[in-house]
Amino acid sequence: MTSNTMIGTGFLWCLLSGVIWASDGTDGVLTQLYADDLTAVQAGEKIYRMHCAACHGQYLEGQPDWRKRDENGYLPAPPHDASGHTWHHSDDLLFEITKYGPSVVINDTAYKTLMPVYNGILSDDDIVAVLSYIKNSWPAEERAWQESVNGTQVDGIQELPKKKSTFLDKLLK
Ligand code: HEC
Repeated sequence: MTSNTMIGTGFLWCLLSGVIWASDGTDGVLTQLYADDLTAVQAGEKIYRMHCAACHGQYLEGQPDWRKRDENGYLPAPPHDASGHTWHHSDDLLFEITKYGPSVVINDTAYKTLMPVYNGILSDDDIVAVLSYIKNSWPAEERAWQESVNGTQVDGIQELPKKKSTFLDKLLK
């Protein structure tokens, strides 16, 4: 898959041409997911069911017509399985979208979205776990592609230089 085929998926920054810098209104650390760690993935599945499945679907399938904004300008919840484009984003960006919300990540407070902000609702470890569960579901090809861009830039969003986070590190040792 080339970056050209990914532009056109109809999602916020996919529509932007050229590279923009990710907002620094976030945490300044590079978060990594633990998609091959069973403890993290199992914990993440429970969190997913409780907090995400209502919108993103029991089977990560998302809502119908998820590429089309409704009459009020809101996008439906996209799938998190390989048919969506969650896997187009780096670990760190997924963490920041979930913790701070899309509008902070793209630096546009006017951006209309129904995606909740999980800062203060889920702990950092819980967010890493739920995203590890999602990442665990991707087939090998999508996993390999996502790893190849992890920590660099995806869909035109350049990550700021950061030091690696230690979320979940202690728990999984
Ligand atoms: C109230 C419905 C709702 C709930 C609950 C919800 N989301 Fe979302 N989510 C959305 C919508 C709508 C979007 C599309 C973002 C936009 O408006 O641009 C989205 C987008 C996302 C994205 C970006 C996906 C991409 O392809 O770029 C991630 C990551 C995400 N959600 C993770 C989660 C996680 C993890 C949970 C549970 C902890 C969760 N969401 C719970 C509605 C929801």
